Order: sequence, then structure tokens, then C-alpha cells
Amino acid sequence: MENKQKEIMLFVGLAAVGALTAFGAVMNNKAGREANPQPVAAEPADTETTTATVSESITALVAEKGTGVKVTKSSDWAEQYPNEYNTYVKNDENDEVHSYIELHPYITTLYSGYGFAIQYGSARGHTYVVEDVTSTGRPHKLANCFTCKTSDMTAAALNDNGAYAMPFEDMEAQITDAFGCFHCHQNEPGTLYVTHSYLADAMGDDLSKYDARTLSCAQCHSEYYFDPETKATTLGYVGHDNATPDKILEYYNNLLDADGNPFADWVAEDTGVRKLKTQHPEFETITAAGGIHPDMNCATCHMGTATADDGTTFTNHYWSSPLDNQELLDSSCNVCHGDLTAAVEKIQKETVARTDEIGESLAAANEALAAKVADGSLSDEDLAKARDLARTAQWYWDFVFVENSDGVHNKTLAADCLDKAEKYLGELNEIVGR
Ligand code: HEC
Ligand code: HEC
Ligand code: HEC
Ligand code: HEC
Repeated sequence: MENKQKEIMLFVGLAAVGALTAFGAVMNNKAGREANPQPVAAEPADTETTTATVSESITALVAEKGTGVKVTKSSDWAEQYPNEYNTYVKNDENDEVHSYIELHPYITTLYSGYGFAIQYGSARGHTYVVEDVTSTGRPHKLANCFTCKTSDMTAAALNDNGAYAMPFEDMEAQITDAFGCFHCHQNEPGTLYVTHSYLADAMGDDLSKYDARTLSCAQCHSEYYFDPETKATTLGYVGHDNATPDKILEYYNNLLDADGNPFADWVAEDTGVRKLKTQHPEFETITAAGGIHPDMNCATCHMGTATADDGTTFTNHYWSSPLDNQELLDSSCNVCHGDLTAAVEKIQKETVARTDEIGESLAAANEALAAKVADGSLSDEDLAKARDLARTAQWYWDFVFVENSDGVHNKTLAADCLDKAEKYLGELNEIVGR
């Protein structure tokens, strides 16, 4: 495999502990963290050289606009690329889904007036995306809802930016391929393209700084909004330095409508708070300061290399948790990590507990604010302040709540967001008398 030849080997073995310490120092240096490597080195292997693979960076190509490109369906590649295709089909097995509303009932208050208060299921396998978006009880309006769900939408938007504003049903009728090869490869399997042009627009000159295997995921696993005028899917930043929770909030606060109001995904009826919905900011979270393993890309941990029965090695196209990928754990992660599952669970437990505690309290503060709005007891000045605080606190809370790793990708950033949510919630509580 040509791409496998690009890999350089990182030798760890009898010197596992030394390598781990050195690696930790490099990482801490890059991420600005304290020198405190946690994972316990595995027992040195029999041979002198256990290998963990770290690949050289790959630069993404950017798909051309306006070429009239048509989607080659995923199933049309099955014969030529059976290993990649069969592991892609395996995503059907990742079918578990749980209701966020049942698990975190307070979100019906925080998202009140918005679709996510009606139905909000957790993520599952990529092959379910179209089914999951069309079956939600949430109201749909436009084709832009299909941005991250079908290759046909991706091709339509490449050919004509106006496609985002098409009626939802018109796009639905055109779907031939749901989540497909096209998103990441256009019609050249193996070559990585950025086909979602809003990512290239948002990154500008910074695009080449990120590995193509991270950018292919960032096309969808990132924070976006729909432009109020064109309805086009757009990221809330320009340049990677602006892809932080603080800067993205500033961007939305400066995006004013004709009446001078800052951008809102929706306005809560009972409180008048102009709310923002954060959306799965995995890319922004892991590439921010404090993110884990800046030397790895999304595919290192969520795809990995697999070996077919005939000995061929290929990139696994089953997108899952690294903890469910035994081949990856054995060949790479466990070379350094003693018990990765326990380390991940510890971070997630702490993050989810704190997120729920703040979310519940913020929901109660929203209810108290609604009561004040109803009885008209706040001054105009206090009301404006309270609305802004409720918006800001919810933004920071949601940045952690909807990030799919539950704190693992970047526990420093998660803690920082929750600290800010708590601070603004405290100020809101003072105004609403909680
Ligand atoms: C075209 C948009 C798109 C691209 C590109 C994309 N994803 Fe996804 N991903 C989604 C959506 C949407 C879901 C949720 C699917 C559902 O629940 O119906 C998802 C779900 C997942 C899940 C499953 C989560 C779970 O709880 O089981 C993983 C893991 C994942 N993506 C990782 C990746 C990685 C890694 C990449 C890049 C190699 C990537 N994704 C590229 C849109 C995308
Ligand atoms: C979410 C993004 C994504 C999608 C969708 C996707 N791939 Fe890939 N594909 C990758 C990544 C990342 C690599 C690794 C590239 C590298 O390391 O050079 C890859 C590599 C490949 C390769 C090179 C050989 C190998 O296995 O490393 C082939 C061939 C390939 N993919 C075929 C397909 C086919 C066929 C489909 C659809 C059934 C598909 N891909 C869908 C991201 C994707
Ligand atoms: C260093 C390894 C690593 C890298 C790099 C990484 N992740 Fe993760 N990711 C994890 C771990 C560990 C989890 C938690 C898995 C679990 O809960 O079982 C996770 C969780 C997720 C989930 C939720 C999966 C699930 O099953 O619920 C998604 C989606 C995801 N990551 C996407 C991404 C994307 C997109 C990127 C790149 C922008 C990325 N990850 C980079 C290690 C990584
Ligand atoms: C060369 C050694 C090495 C390899 C290989 C390695 N890691 Fe790590 N990993 C570390 C070090 C060192 C840390 C930092 C620990 C800290 O700062 O507390 C870390 C941290 C992490 C964290 C954050 C949780 C924690 O324990 O702090 C996750 C998640 C993680 N690694 C996932 C992975 C995954 C998934 C793989 C395999 C694809 C992998 N790592 C491979 C050395 C390694």
C-alpha cells in the first residue's frame, strides 16, 4: 500500500519507559500542559522493537467548484476496493442510539423552542445519517439539513452554492448515496479531498497546517451555522486561531441582524434569550491547546490499519471508538497505555457529572428568568444583562455537552468552558434571585 510506505516507525521496546517520558515531554511542550504522563507503560515486548506507528502528514486537496461533478455511489466501488467497502458497510452494526432527553431531562428547558427539545438522539454509525435526519421529530426546512448526511448534497453544493436553500423534500428526492466515499475522496478513492468548501473557506491559509485525515472529518465534526441570508452552511470562524469557544462566540455576537441583534439559532419564547446551538465541535476541541496527541490525526484513533484475510493491510473504514478497535489497541495504543479504557472512563465520568450539574442549574435559572419576564419585575437594563448571561453560559456549557468525546479529546478545554459557564451562571443567578 502506497500510503503505508509513508509511515515512519516509532521504536519503543525495552526502552518503553524512556520513550514514554520523552514523548510526554514533547506533547506537553506543544500543548502547554504540566509534565505528568499518566499511562503506565506496558510490559516490554519480547522483541527489542515493538512498533507504534505515527504517519507523516498528508496534505488535503480542495475539490473544485462548479465542475458539474456527479457522485459515484459507494456501492459502485465495492468490487474494486472490497476491504474499504466492507468495513464501510460494517458501520451498520454501530446502531445503538440513546435519547439525550431521557438521560438529561433538563435539556428540554435549555433547548425549549428549538427542535432538540423535541427529539435528540445520540450519534451512531455513519450509514444511518440519512435515516436519522429524515426520521427526527424535529421540523426540517431546507436542504442545508443534509449537509453532513449525503454525498449528493455535497456534490450539489459544489456545483451550486444555492443548493443549500433548496426545499428539504427536493433534496431528499435526489439522494442516491447516503454517507459515502465522495465526502472524503470525491470520485478518487484513496486520495483525500476537502469537498465541503465551507471548511476550506473557514481555514484559508491554515488549511495546509492540518493533516488531510483530520480535515476529512472536520468537514462535518465541527461547529457551524446557517448563514441567515444565503442559508449556506458556514463555520463560525476564519483562520484556525479563531476556532476557539471564546472567538466563535465573539463572531456570533458581532454578526448583527437588521435590528442590531446578535446572531441567534433561535429565540426562547418565555425568556427572550437569543440562544446559540453548539454543534459537535470535535475538530475545534482536539486541535485547540491542551488537545490530546497533537501528533496523531482523527483516523489514527478512529480508523486505524486493519489486515485482511489475505494479509493485505488497509485503512479500516469502520468509524468507531478506539476502545472498540482491538487491533488498534494492540498494535499501537497499548504500547504506552496500561489501561486506556479506565483513563477514558475517568475523564468522561468527571466531565459528564460536572456538565449535568451546571446544565441543571442553568435550566433552573432559565425558569427563574422566565418568571421574572412574566411578572415584569426586572429593569430593562437587568433584563438585557440577564438574557446575555443566559446566552453566554449556555454556549460554554453546550460546547462541552455536545462534544462527542465527553472531555477526552481535551480535558483542559472542557474544564475551561465549564468554569466559564459556571461564572456566567453565577452572575445570572444574582439577577434572577437564585
Ligand atoms: C459527511 C459528514 C461526516 C464526515 C465527513 C464524517 N462524519 Fe462522523 N458522523 C457524522 C454524523 C452526522 C454522525 C452521526 C450519525 C447518526 O447518528 O446518524 C457521525 C458519527 C460518527 C461516529 C459515531 C459516533 C457514535 O456515537 O457511534 C464516529 C466515531 C465518527 N463519526 C467519526 C468520524 C471520523 C473519524 C471521521 C473522519 C475520518 C468522520 N466521522 C467523518 C458525519 C460525518
Ligand atoms: C470520512 C472520510 C472517508 C470516507 C467517507 C471514505 N474514506 Fe477511504 N480513506 C479515508 C482515510 C482517512 C484514508 C487514509 C488515507 C491515507 O492514510 O493515505 C482512506 C483511504 C482509502 C483508500 C486507500 C487505501 C487504504 O485502505 O488506505 C481507499 C482505496 C479508500 N479509502 C476507499 C474508500 C471507499 C471505496 C470509500 C467508500 C465506500 C471510502 N474510502 C470512504 C477516509 C474516508
Ligand atoms: C488520540 C486519539 C484520538 C484522536 C486523534 C481523536 N479522537 Fe475522537 N475519541 C478518542 C477517544 C479515546 C474517544 C472516546 C471513546 C469512547 O468513549 O469510547 C473519542 C470519541 C470520539 C467520538 C465519539 C465516539 C463515540 O463512540 O461516542 C467522535 C465522534 C470522535 N471522537 C471524533 C473525532 C474526530 C472528528 C477527531 C479529529 C478531529 C478525533 N475524534 C480525534 C480518541 C481520539
Ligand atoms: C508513544 C506512547 C503513546 C502511544 C503510542 C499512545 N499514547 Fe495516548 N498518551 C500518551 C501520553 C504520554 C499521554 C499523556 C498523558 C497525560 O498527559 O496525562 C497520552 C494521553 C492519551 C489520552 C488522554 C487520556 C489520558 O490518559 O491522559 C488518550 C485518550 C490517549 N492518549 C489515547 C491514545 C490512543 C487512542 C492511542 C492509540 C491510537 C494512543 N493514545 C497511543 C502516550 C501514548
